[in-house]
Amino acid sequence: MSNDGVNSGRRRFLVAATTVVGAAGAVGAAVPFVGSWFPSARARAAGAPVSVNISKLEQGQQIVAEWRGQPIFVTRRSAEALEILAENEAILADPQSQACDSPDYIDPRTRSIKPEILVVVGICTHLGCSPLFRPTVGAADMGADWKGGYYCPCHGSHYDMSGRVWRGQPAPLNLPVPPHSYETDDVIVVGVDEETA
Ligand code: FES
Repeated sequence: MSNDGVNSGRRRFLVAATTVVGAAGAVGAAVPFVGSWFPSARARAAGAPVSVNISKLEQGQQIVAEWRGQPIFVTRRSAEALEILAENEAILADPQSQACDSPDYIDPRTRSIKPEILVVVGICTHLGCSPLFRPTVGAADMGADWKGGYYCPCHGSHYDMSGRVWRGQPAPLNLPVPPHSYETDDVIVVGVDEETA
């Protein structure tokens, strides 16, 4: 079989997987975490892309998808949250995200394609717990200096609203950004970008 044949077959598989999961994602977007979004175990094992419909995702909200067995946090940030990202830099270990795993096409500060939409792998870079989404600035249980972000309940690592870890935390790196792209303004495909398509 020629390479063209292989690539065409792979493209057909990716399109089919994206279409099927995309239809499920439209149902799941209204709730925080929906197991039925997920492709079959066989598809997951193959690393099938996952579509996430963000049409009902409001500012300050997050939905959680799954891709390759990992939680994927998809968050819509407010204008205020985006402004705070710049203020955070003095407290961050790697504000320009130079040491962590991120696609080249994301902005180093917002760590996203579109400023308001963050897509990160929801696994703490310390020992692999799933951080909690705590977007409220100054939340009573987080302290007055809390600017919104992610908090890992296992050993207390703090991340900002771009998934960038604070200095001096158990976690050494920012949350990874998975390859992703926009199928439409409302549909993100995790696992497919210009480099992998
Ligand atoms: S696993 Fe997150 S701080 Fe240890």
